[in-house]
Amino acid sequence: MPDIFAEKIENSVSKDFKRYTITSALPYANGPLHIGHIAGAYLPADIYVRYLRSKGKDVVYISGSDEHGAAITLRAKKEGTTPQAIIDKYHEINKETFRKFGIAFDIYDRTSAPIHHETSQAFFKDLYDKGEFIEKESEQYYDEEFKQFLADRYITGTCPNCGHDAAYGDQCEKCGTSLSPTDLINPISTLSGKTPVLKSTKHWYLPLDKYQPWLEKWLGEDSKKKEWKSNVYGQCTSWLKAGLQPRAMTRDLDWGVDVPIEGADGKKLYVWLDAPIGYISATKNWAKANGKNWKDYWLKQENDEDDSCLIHFIGKDNIVFHCIIFPAILQAHGGYLLPTNVPANEFLNLEGDKLSTSRNWAVWLHEYLEDLPNKEDVLRYVLCANAPESKDNDFTWKDYQTRNNSELVAIYGNFVNRAVVLTHKYFEGRVPTLGELDGVDKEVLKELEEFPSKIASSIDKFRFREALALLMDLARLGNKYLADTEPWKLIKTDEARTGTILNIALQIAANLSILSEPFLPRTAEKLALTLNLEGKKWEDAGDSDLLLQGQDIEKAALLFEKTEDEVVDKQVQKLEDSKMANQAIDTEVEAQKAETTFDDFMKMDMRVGTILTAEKVKKSNKLLKFTVDTGIDKRTILSGIAKYYSPEEMIGKQVTVLANLAPRKIMGVESQGMILMAEDHDGSLKLIQPNVAMMNGATIS
Ligand code: MF3
Ligand code: ZN
Repeated sequence: MPDIFAEKIENSVSKDFKRYTITSALPYANGPLHIGHIAGAYLPADIYVRYLRSKGKDVVYISGSDEHGAAITLRAKKEGTTPQAIIDKYHEINKETFRKFGIAFDIYDRTSAPIHHETSQAFFKDLYDKGEFIEKESEQYYDEEFKQFLADRYITGTCPNCGHDAAYGDQCEKCGTSLSPTDLINPISTLSGKTPVLKSTKHWYLPLDKYQPWLEKWLGEDSKKKEWKSNVYGQCTSWLKAGLQPRAMTRDLDWGVDVPIEGADGKKLYVWLDAPIGYISATKNWAKANGKNWKDYWLKQENDEDDSCLIHFIGKDNIVFHCIIFPAILQAHGGYLLPTNVPANEFLNLEGDKLSTSRNWAVWLHEYLEDLPNKEDVLRYVLCANAPESKDNDFTWKDYQTRNNSELVAIYGNFVNRAVVLTHKYFEGRVPTLGELDGVDKEVLKELEEFPSKIASSIDKFRFREALALLMDLARLGNKYLADTEPWKLIKTDEARTGTILNIALQIAANLSILSEPFLPRTAEKLALTLNLEGKKWEDAGDSDLLLQGQDIEKAALLFEKTEDEVVDKQVQKLEDSKMANQAIDTEVEAQKAETTFDDFMKMDMRVGTILTAEKVKKSNKLLKFTVDTGIDKRTILSGIAKYYSPEEMIGKQVTVLANLAPRKIMGVESQGMILMAEDHDGSLKLIQPNVAMMNGATIS
């Protein structure tokens, strides 16, 4: 094994804190959850929290539904219902899904809770009273037909960066550039389909530029933040390098938390102001119900600032909000803890493509639970083993099957099963006596002893993949020990020695149960029940006397079962189906371009023409060069259709030509017009032709 532990501790919460406040991003309650959600922000947090609990730490694990923001209203519009109905539905579904996957929140709250409205309003009011905000009038897009200002997501248009014609007002999903609505070319309101107008409106801005020096210091060189994951630290420094701008903390919306000051009628808090405060409101709710004091978990303590440790688990699209904006808000308020670490994950892809809710390109968790019952731990295992910790990663069903069959079944399950079954076969299901140890035994026990601290050290550094790989190494160690000592042969000649070996094997299995708990909670529990192992915690692990000699163990439980080809084939088929469905939708959905005038349209001179000659253009595999009889003249036109038509088949075809397009030089040849084509669902181009033979030069309008 490479000595990965030799390097100095970096990027870890190495210090022991009195308390831990752990959060996972509040998912929007606008739809169900998919594998990307748990892989990004929930599974790593859950592993971390379970580990801390096993170590007996005082920890609170907070999450809940984010129930404001344009995503909710948009979904309600789409489904023809109200935002309230949407959040009620998905809050329950998502809460239940998390529970089934064993994500062990102390509270899964919601931002529609009254205490949250109070808490976030009090925050705003505090900053307002201190004069932290800048009040500013500005021009924003307004839909005259719907009589409302448009949230960024309600505006689509052409991306100034890549030309994608369905970019949103906050982001182009094609090239990933983040945008503001006024960047869009030909903006269109998704409400009315009309071009919105700019109208003046007043908002309250947090001057992030004013906080820049403080943030630079807080995140900077001399602080511990450079021990943060490099993907996170890198994003932070690039935001700072670009220079922070004031950001509006209010919005013209009809869904959200009311702005609690005079003269702000019809305005709501910016969702990225209210949502992170949701962590605090949820802690309040939890504390009230459990006889705790929320302040212990959120406020700096008088004497020792580092009493409590705040860690945000999120996906990479949330980095700026948790590492820059929310800390600035907390700092502006004062008295609050700032995050000790923000171990954000990158994105998980699915079978080579970006996960997408709208394109139904996802493994939905509620469907997984139905299709593959009792396999929650398998998915936890695969998603952790393959977590996008430092770069985007891919989930494939093939990999799922392999990891299940050749790791969980063949290594973990096989080892435990052999130890338990042989104990029943030779020793009536009682833990045999440990006799004198020989070299192999001592070696194995010494290795065993080191596992808890090795795994802990990886978890402390948020390297959950590495921690899980180590856990599997422990199962491998057990397997190898049995293979080397062959108790099934030894029993014929030396019962006492066989007993010693099985005792050690069972102790390894018991350790496996304790150390698996953060990763595979159901499996760990089943295993503990099998071994009658009760109440053991992290600090007990490493020991080889977890099970008492003569103690009964139960019959072997099935921990993992083989995943057959049919099962994964069915899942792959499901994805194929949604790909097909998407292609059908793609043909319909290109958004309408901005309105044009009749006069503008009439400026275009379009005619029927006939292709006289056609040839390939040298050094281009896209272009064909034609001579076209336009009725007016015979001219050269280049066209990018070589992938779809051969020169031979083009000769003699009638086509439609835009004749008065300004000539352009392409690859050294002047093209004097354009041949009109349509793009099909798969991106292929097809000629637009008259349906009967016509005179060359016939005009089109
Ligand atoms: N709802 C947001 C998202 O899904 C995350 C909110 S995290 C919080 O991207 F900190 F604001 F709560
Ligand atoms: Zn773009």
